[in-house]
Amino acid sequence: MPTSPPLAPNPLRRGLVEDRAGEACAVVIFGASGDLTRRKLMPALYNLAWSRALPAGIAIVGVARGEKTDDSFRAGMREAVGRFSRRKPIEEALWADFERGLTYVRGAASDPATYESLRAHLARLDADRGTGKNRLFYLAVPPSEFGPIVEGLRASRLVGDAARGQDPNAWSRVVFEKPFGHDLASARELNDTIALAFNESQVFRIDHYLGKETVQNLLVLRFANLLFEPVWGREHVDHVQITVAEDIGVEGRGRFYEQTGVTRDIVENHLMQLLCLTAMEPPISLVADAVRDEKVKVLRALRPMELAEVNHNVVRGQYARGTVHGEEVPAYVEEPDVAANSRVETYVAMRCFVDNWRWSGVPFYVRAGKRLARRVTEIAIVFHEVPRTLFRASRLSGITPNVLSVRIQPDEGIALRFISKEPGQQTVLRDVAMDFRYGAAFGSNTPEAYERLLLDAMRGEATLFTRRDEVEAQWRYIDPVLSALGSEAPPLTYPAGSWGPDKADDLLTRDGCRWRKP
Ligand code: BG6
Repeated sequence: MPTSPPLAPNPLRRGLVEDRAGEACAVVIFGASGDLTRRKLMPALYNLAWSRALPAGIAIVGVARGEKTDDSFRAGMREAVGRFSRRKPIEEALWADFERGLTYVRGAASDPATYESLRAHLARLDADRGTGKNRLFYLAVPPSEFGPIVEGLRASRLVGDAARGQDPNAWSRVVFEKPFGHDLASARELNDTIALAFNESQVFRIDHYLGKETVQNLLVLRFANLLFEPVWGREHVDHVQITVAEDIGVEGRGRFYEQTGVTRDIVENHLMQLLCLTAMEPPISLVADAVRDEKVKVLRALRPMELAEVNHNVVRGQYARGTVHGEEVPAYVEEPDVAANSRVETYVAMRCFVDNWRWSGVPFYVRAGKRLARRVTEIAIVFHEVPRTLFRASRLSGITPNVLSVRIQPDEGIALRFISKEPGQQTVLRDVAMDFRYGAAFGSNTPEAYERLLLDAMRGEATLFTRRDEVEAQWRYIDPVLSALGSEAPPLTYPAGSWGPDKADDLLTRDGCRWRKP
């Protein structure tokens, strides 16, 4: 009986095992007892270790105020990784190796003694684990601590020429979590403080959406295919819809949300980045500055909103009690640490214009919200209608515009809707979809955004991070919107589990369009 040949590895799975190990270094996480470290950073580092993407000489140092030993820190991180890692269960041998590199330094951001302990600690790690004086400082802390930590690192000469010692190739880099500032003035001030200690090439401002596979794929979709680019602009596109909908509420982050609101939390960064990647011109290469130059041009081309335009083009809402996936949930104002008369928005919809040659006159409708009907992030390019000369008869009126929708998450994929003839003796038209799903094509265990971003920061690759002028341009656009909203009536309420306030529909119906129900 013929034996079947051995199975060849599935070529589509190539790339899922990492081969991009960075250079030996110490990763120093400020905010080591926080949620981000537990939920995202440590699981990401463990998964990088699993993929053999971490260098042999790696040390991970947690810095926080709590009283902990290396052992109790390791135990806490093991529990977190066990819960939040995408690969489960923990592999014992791998963990044993991984945790040898985990250590803890106790200290407060504002205390100079913290940096002295850290310096001595890092010097020991250089000797014991061969971290080669390379440091990646990760600031997983509230923005109010960014300034003191940068200043602490500078004053204690943990960064800069002195930190390199005799080794001209040693590097130090710093990663800032979002939110980066509260408005344009505070973002600028922060950038000025950072510039006293770091060159811009050492600074990595995170927007974790840029680390998502589906977001990275936007440039590939647009510029590695011939089909889309010629129709990507005002001549063929009627409008663009970008939705970042979440079904969760503020999840115990009431205090943070009261200071932030969805416009600062999601629109100013994640949503603006999606808009930039959708609207930008092809960069001359994929190097960081080439890509970021093009994104900044989009941000500069956004039509600024004056007060009167804000009223016309922006709708904000706040969730009231309601039902999400069959479960009753409280109103925003009933969440812990939220003021009973809070005017903070948990939903915002905006009508924006990119005033350049390609997009002139094409509305970009964007919306983001908590406690909406379902969790979905999507970019939809809605094309113009065809002339209705050929299929006029009423029975044939099923013509709707073509839509290309990029599902960022969940159920990641890209779908193209077009019109087709229903099989039968008569000409009946119906819209159908060509649907590409990541899960089916590539398997579902794709890397988390933080894995890619941590690795890129270790390797000094800044393409997926936000540059100084970029973050300031984002704020320059959002600032007037926020000030106008601040002086306006309280947000409209919408029932949790709905698609937001009804008034958000008017933004589109006025232009003869409708929100998609993705
Ligand atoms: C964070 C916001 O940046 O992004 C959260 O602070 C939000 O409020 C989260 O829930 C959404 O991220 P993701 O990756 O789940 O879409």
